[in-house]
Amino acid sequence: MSERSPLSHKYPIIAGYRDRINKWGDVDTIVQFLDAVVDTGSRIDQRLPEGRNLNIVKDPGGLVAAVQYANLKTGGKRFDYFNLHTSADWTAVLESLLKSEERFQIFADNLDRPQQVTSPKRAIALNYILGKRFGGQEVYGVDAGCSANLALPLLGSDFLRSEQVEADLAVDGFQGSTQAVTLGLGIDVNPVDVDWLRASDWPLPENMVDTTLEEAITLAELRNVGQISFAQADLRDHDLIPKVVNQLLPEVNFVQTSFLLGRLYKPENQPEQQFCPLVEKLLTDGGIWINFDTTTAIPSDVTGQSNYEVRVWEKIGRKLHYLATPFLLTHSQVTISRVFTEEFKKI
Ligand SMILES: C[S@@+](CC[C@H](N)C(=O)[O-])C[C@H]1O[C@@H](n2cnc3c(N)ncnc32)[C@H](O)[C@@H]1O
Repeated sequence: MSERSPLSHKYPIIAGYRDRINKWGDVDTIVQFLDAVVDTGSRIDQRLPEGRNLNIVKDPGGLVAAVQYANLKTGGKRFDYFNLHTSADWTAVLESLLKSEERFQIFADNLDRPQQVTSPKRAIALNYILGKRFGGQEVYGVDAGCSANLALPLLGSDFLRSEQVEADLAVDGFQGSTQAVTLGLGIDVNPVDVDWLRASDWPLPENMVDTTLEEAITLAELRNVGQISFAQADLRDHDLIPKVVNQLLPEVNFVQTSFLLGRLYKPENQPEQQFCPLVEKLLTDGGIWINFDTTTAIPSDVTGQSNYEVRVWEKIGRKLHYLATPFLLTHSQVTISRVFTEEFKKI
């Protein structure tokens, strides 16, 4: 790893990320990237419009996403992070950005755009929970903070099945059935932009990379024959959202949230409690809220990743009541690391 000081001095926010990199262990490519930024950063800064510079970027992922996006939008191929082994490789990427007026403009326009990361296999847990709860009935649901809206169309498909989860459930006699959505609505404050999604796919250690993004994009497009809509709206607006939902769905049997609540509320302000009133407004009686966004006290695994509880709430009368935690997730809420069949039974 190279010296901390030059980078910390020039780009303190980006440099602050080194601690996280250390935690993730083997993401050498990020370190090489940071070194390339030290070499090329001043020239990039000079070309940026007044008031914009690399220090407006909150993390290296945001910076790489802007570079990647500019490349994709000007006919380039998505560059593969794991083929960028040295800082010279990364410098070449940044140099090519500096060479093209059009590419640089797109980069500059997207420099502090919030990343939109999604792992399509994240919806495996949702698929089994809906299968258990609704078992082939008509079902209407909302994916709150849906990013590019890939999860709802994929529900009920083999893409969202896991042999391991089905084997774990079978121990207690469950079949692990899955569930497609009759009508669904994804809501996000940002527009659906699949290239931005591709660009936001910042490198994780190779053993954690979900390589199925392209497959999911194609499959979701094929499967969505008009039953899944999208609405661009701010989920903090608890008056507007029910109106938007009521226009598009006859009722709401489930609401799903993953990697959302942390964007809406500070952790110390009990995010789940703050989001409850909106879910209570949306759900029909007997509907469920599946929330992935609670980290657990159960220790993180060796990669330093958090474990998350998949918490299921049920609306009875007008209020939400906690129902069960059937799964634990790790690896960015993608891998189901524990199956609790006694809890699954309660759904
Ligand atoms: C990390 S992504 C998670 C996407 C998806 N739920 C998943 O698990 O793959 C967070 C998403 O929340 C969206 N988001 C952030 N703040 C929001 C808000 N106030 N209203 C609606 N969506 C929001 C972002 O645009 C982004 O797509």
